[in-house]
Amino acid sequence: MENIAQLILTSMIWVLPAYVANASPVIFGGGKPLDFGKKFIDGKRILGNGKTIKGFIAGIFAGSFIGFVEGILLIGFLLALGAILGDLAGSFIKRRVGIKRGQPFWVLDQFDFVIGALLLVSLIELPALEVIIAVLLITPALHLLTNFIAYKLDMKKVPW
Ligand code: CTP
Ligand code: MG
Repeated sequence: MENIAQLILTSMIWVLPAYVANASPVIFGGGKPLDFGKKFIDGKRILGNGKTIKGFIAGIFAGSFIGFVEGILLIGFLLALGAILGDLAGSFIKRRVGIKRGQPFWVLDQFDFVIGALLLVSLIELPALEVIIAVLLITPALHLLTNFIAYKLDMKKVPW
């Protein structure tokens, strides 16, 4: 039991740059959309207004900063960049299947960023299997909880 709590804690600390990268655009984002309002060949927005240039930059910087503080700058940078790219990929998919900006795509919304982070960081370091499992089990619950709190604090328009 103690070992499991330990594993969860170390896994969350390790993946924290991805969490911070994904959360910081809610605070520092907004403004010009990354896709510049452009549409894809299907006539729908490429990414939508929820993905902004400021959010993209803020996420990478904030996540990398956590990595720097943790003494794992390169890993932190890759986790942060991967999280942001995974989130963008999620929005790209949502727009393709016709889900409007801010509307939920359950499971995809909870996993896109953390899958992106794990994939990109794997270029330089493959995390231990138990760390991957812990991260994949904890992340969706944590994502739902933190989004609900952000909604209650009026930082987000929707609770997901
Ligand atoms: N955000 C941002 N830039 C990003 C990512 C997020 O500015 N690259 C901000 C936006 O204000 C966004 C909020 O963070 O509304 C929450 O992010 P998220 O839930 O990922 O976006 P959604 O608005 O739900 O858009 P989508 O439907 O594309 O997921
Ligand atoms: Mg969303």
